[in-house]
Amino acid sequence: MTTFKHEYAPRGGCREVFEYRGEEVLVSGPAGTGKSRACLEKLFMVCMLTPNTRALILRKTQTSLGSTALVTWRNFVIKEAEAAGEVVYYGGSSAEPPQYRFRNGSKVMIGGLDKPVRIMSSEYDIVYIQEATEITITDLEFVKTRLRNWQTSFQQLIMDCNPAGNKHWLKLRCTDGKTKLIESRHEDNPRLFEECAPEAPGALAYWDVPSGYVKVTDRGAAYIEILDNLTGVRYKRLRLGLWVSAEGIVYEEFDPAHHVLPWEYDDKGNQLPLPAEWPRYWVIDFGYVHPFVCKWYAIGPDGEIYMYREIHMTHRTVAEHASQIMSLVTKEVETEWYDHFNRTMRTKKEIVWTEPVPDAIICDHDLEDRRTFERETGLGTIKAIKWVNQGIDLHKERLKLNKEKEARFYLMADSLVEVDPYLRENLMPINTEEEYAGYVWKVSPDGRKQNDPVKKDDDGVDCDRYLTMHLDFKGKARATLLDY
Ligand SMILES: Nc1ncnc2c1ncn2[C@@H]1O[C@H](COP(=O)(O)OP(=O)(O)O)[C@@H](O)[C@H]1O
Ligand SMILES: [Mg+2]
Repeated sequence: MTTFKHEYAPRGGCREVFEYRGEEVLVSGPAGTGKSRACLEKLFMVCMLTPNTRALILRKTQTSLGSTALVTWRNFVIKEAEAAGEVVYYGGSSAEPPQYRFRNGSKVMIGGLDKPVRIMSSEYDIVYIQEATEITITDLEFVKTRLRNWQTSFQQLIMDCNPAGNKHWLKLRCTDGKTKLIESRHEDNPRLFEECAPEAPGALAYWDVPSGYVKVTDRGAAYIEILDNLTGVRYKRLRLGLWVSAEGIVYEEFDPAHHVLPWEYDDKGNQLPLPAEWPRYWVIDFGYVHPFVCKWYAIGPDGEIYMYREIHMTHRTVAEHASQIMSLVTKEVETEWYDHFNRTMRTKKEIVWTEPVPDAIICDHDLEDRRTFERETGLGTIKAIKWVNQGIDLHKERLKLNKEKEARFYLMADSLVEVDPYLRENLMPINTEEEYAGYVWKVSPDGRKQNDPVKKDDDGVDCDRYLTMHLDFKGKARATLLDY
């Protein structure tokens, strides 16, 4: 065995989860407390200590895992072990999921619940579900049936999340005592708070260090400042770690468990596109400091809407967006042709569409941005009908579930083209799904709800409303749509 040195010292709630042996545990808390790191370190330790452990890192979709937990896993948890050759990555095959293989025979599989076949046919000793509020209780029960490999002395489902609504099923499951709930806080993360002497300036009492005091680090101060700038339900959940729902939420009907659909895959694991005969629409909400949002929609056989691709990005010009948009829907092909005059084969390059051309591109009203977009793409646009209250009412109708639990509006999972680093860093919604939970009505100083939504973090939800208006509104505004 090669030797390597790996350091990790968990504190507070993170230490509790690290040491807990029961069969089902959830660590919840605000953003950045070290929850995911603690869960991953635990997986790593179990795999190192017990040969032939089978572990699984799981999230609702495999793609979302790649940009979060796996980054921490590679950069912090297994870094030294991988460099020492103690752990190697194996990219998977049609029968096996991607995985990290330990020299002692332990394996850590990687997967998303959107591609369950390869991961769920196996048995495990320890399963870590990241952002467990995203999954359904059925998913959780299913995962639990796979926990029976019995290589380790305890079999465990370990989960982490930022808090969600106060009536979320996972929170209720903790209240019922089925899941052990461990709370973590910012002081648990040594990157944000370091141990100090009781008399040091800014010392805060904290139970889980020898001196009994910690103070905020430079990095910690910067991070807490970002969190302090959040508002509404994001502030309560990500800064304070509270399980709360937004007050006066506009789209109460929206429930990710019903309205966010997984993609389907073929036997080889390739994502199946939506049927080419489904009509397409694009909706654009321009912005530079606020996100520019462009969303792609397909209309299913019963008129239901599927949003299947989203650009949600700040600090880029319309021309930059236009070129990215066209590269997403077209490709260059080379065809050969025979030049009779010169008697030789030649090739020519052509741009072809790789998916249906939209029936309409619906935009917010900024004329200059629209013109730029039209010039850069060669595509015409129309104005959105922006009557807010009518739009919200109609969109709520689409979100409502019928007896069969079907809606008339869906978001496809992981449809974001690229995560905006600015939004991610500032913990602002990175896509429309994240906007739905925080889109609220204005409240007047005397506490009454007003008939107007708060105009904040609404760029993606607005696009959905514009398309619903375009398709469902039967009023007069349509007549004026074509004038500029
Ligand atoms: N005990 C620790 N020692 C060193 N770094 C830590 C520790 N706990 C967390 N971190 C670092 O802090 C950052 C945030 O941790 P993370 O686990 O992603 O937080 P959360 O999942 O609570 O949002 C990560 O880069 C992680 O490596
Ligand atoms: Mg995390």
